[in-house]
Amino acid sequence: MKPSKITILFFIMSSLTVGLAQKPVYLDSNQPIEKRVQDALSRMTLEEKVDMLHAQSKFSSKGVPRLGIPEVWTDDGPHGIREEVFWDKWIGAGWTNDSCTAFPALTSLAASFNPEMALLYGISIGEEARYRNKSVLLGPGVNIYRTPLNGRNFEYMGEDPYLSSRMVVPYIQGVQQNGVAACVKHFALNNQEDNRTSIDVQVSERALYEIYLPAFKAAVQEGKAWSIMGSYNLFRGQHCCTNDLLLNKILKQDWNFNGVVISDWGGTHNTEQAVLNGLDLEMGTSTDGLTTDGTAPYSEYYMANPYLKNLKSGKYDVKTLDDKVSRILRLIFRTTMSADRPFGKFVSPEHSEAARKIAEQGIVLLKNEKQTLPIPVGKYKKIAVIGENATKSLVIGGGSSSLKVAYEVKPLEGLIAKYGKDVISFSSGYASGQSEYVKETKSRLNKDSLLHAAVEVAKNADVVIYIGGLNKNYLQDSEGGDRKSMALPYGQDQLIQAIQTVNKNIVVVLLSGNAVEMPWLGQVPALVQGWYLGSEAGNALANILSGEVNPSGKLPFSFPKKLEDNAAISFGAISYPGLNGKEEYKEDILVGYRWFDTKKIAPQFAFGHGLSYTTFEYGKATTDKKSYATNDTVKLTLTLKNTGVLKGAETVQIYISALKPSVMRPIKELKAFSKTELDASASRQIEINLGVKDWAFYNEKTQSWEVEAGKYNILVGASSADIRQKVNVEITK
Ligand code: GLC
Repeated sequence: MKPSKITILFFIMSSLTVGLAQKPVYLDSNQPIEKRVQDALSRMTLEEKVDMLHAQSKFSSKGVPRLGIPEVWTDDGPHGIREEVFWDKWIGAGWTNDSCTAFPALTSLAASFNPEMALLYGISIGEEARYRNKSVLLGPGVNIYRTPLNGRNFEYMGEDPYLSSRMVVPYIQGVQQNGVAACVKHFALNNQEDNRTSIDVQVSERALYEIYLPAFKAAVQEGKAWSIMGSYNLFRGQHCCTNDLLLNKILKQDWNFNGVVISDWGGTHNTEQAVLNGLDLEMGTSTDGLTTDGTAPYSEYYMANPYLKNLKSGKYDVKTLDDKVSRILRLIFRTTMSADRPFGKFVSPEHSEAARKIAEQGIVLLKNEKQTLPIPVGKYKKIAVIGENATKSLVIGGGSSSLKVAYEVKPLEGLIAKYGKDVISFSSGYASGQSEYVKETKSRLNKDSLLHAAVEVAKNADVVIYIGGLNKNYLQDSEGGDRKSMALPYGQDQLIQAIQTVNKNIVVVLLSGNAVEMPWLGQVPALVQGWYLGSEAGNALANILSGEVNPSGKLPFSFPKKLEDNAAISFGAISYPGLNGKEEYKEDILVGYRWFDTKKIAPQFAFGHGLSYTTFEYGKATTDKKSYATNDTVKLTLTLKNTGVLKGAETVQIYISALKPSVMRPIKELKAFSKTELDASASRQIEINLGVKDWAFYNEKTQSWEVEAGKYNILVGASSADIRQKVNVEITK
């Protein structure tokens, strides 16, 4: 039966009203993101598009007020949510609700060798960013540890590309499940702070692809990072924030990155390069070339009026503009305009627990003789705690990762809480010139009086816990400048030597983000590498030193015996810190243990080294086959046994070693690791899968990855220098 005219009219009217009432696609969070992006883009004017591409304040960029599209708010950093600063000043705005949880530095996370800790970290810090209504967290950083002097190594995940890759992916996933974009940094080759905005890095294709890019590639392809930050330095003559090869070719084309490329603050220097070489969001520029605030109108940013003018003149096509705007819209629809994102948490008890667990799992026991450690509560009546790092705040300083925290349990506080104030005595021992202790005493303290006071305290104690290392002062572990030596600063070597002459029962705890020289090591029975451990530092350290928690961390970078043993340093100034603005990574792919193995240099402590209060036995490792094709997976099994009397966790590391490669290859390369916790006397069969495709080297001739047929040793180790087992396999084409 044909519908009457009335019915048809009614149907048209009703669908019209419904249509009118229907939300525009871009506002409808049930619509696919790509449709929302295209719909929003189609509604924006040229001016609104250009406005989105650059900062409007220190940490934010414009939305589209007319369309109800919100601004993008970014915030540092990798270890916690930075305090609110003034709109256009680097100065803290003095808010009273932005004191955050400080999580351990990323060296501590890397040292845990536990991707579950990385996920916990990302979720926790992501909840704090979400609660503070940030759309982008400016972290994590994954630049490779190339020299022990780099001021920002403490913010990164060590010397090995595989370890960094495995640890960065869950961190990103954890952050982004809160509807907050991670912003992986600094892309790429930002491996020092000296001359960081002008150094022009030259590096081979192999080293680029095998060492410096893998963690970023994993972050993009596995972590699905929604944004990435270009670095300050140049690569082959172009600043990395506007670098055609890195951004257009490798990141956006080869890796299919569909997120936002954000410049480092002040990393943009040229409109044409910014427009054509892949930058999407320009932050922190001072167009008048000065570093003062407020004198650089945002409208004069390279991707502001200068860009708009040349769009209107037809010099630049709208297609490039629309690609940039689409990426920013995509980030907005993934974050602030995503209807199903959670609401975050801030300074919650769970975050404190997470911070403490990550710190506990990252602390590394480097040496422990004469059963010096653990120090169970009640064992001693008098414990001397010596060293400024026992009381100095280590969550502030260091540059952009500096934090205003809700609380910070410093080592001395944690030790007093653990052992009781009548057991613990304290003496600063040294002063970095900015510590509260020196100010409080007001007396004219000098190295000698501090040293003598400390030696007195040490003399009368049953055991000494020395807590020193580096700190976040400029030219220590800090952004903007590198250390000038690998030695401990502030006279600590003399202090440690003076202490051990009056008390041989000493534990040295180093809090740092970098390796240091240790002239006193032979006289010290126990040594612990603590990192910048965040708000729960004192509790984590006390739990480890007392044996309540068994240390399980492993070094994410090598500790050289002396600075000249380091690969980059050994090639002189052109290799580090660079000569006349140019720097050549002459060590090529031989970074870290790759160098020590090849040059047969014994490090002070090897990559992957870390002891426990218990002992582990590695059973015979076997593989499911003897020969494999290049796209096979090797299934390796071994039984791990806890042969001690305490529960503990061990990280079994798997390295591969090509026996007769056609190209220069490191002696061994980390390709898998597995952390297992075992009760005393317990054992467990561990199964580790190794994708043979990951054994490839980057062939510069064919510009592609290549797995070479031939014989390989699979090395099973407790560290890169402590290989317990070797399994020989054949790879066939
Ligand atoms: C800094 C750092 C970067 C930080 C940004 C914003 O210079 O290089 O890591 O996120 O500027 O503070």
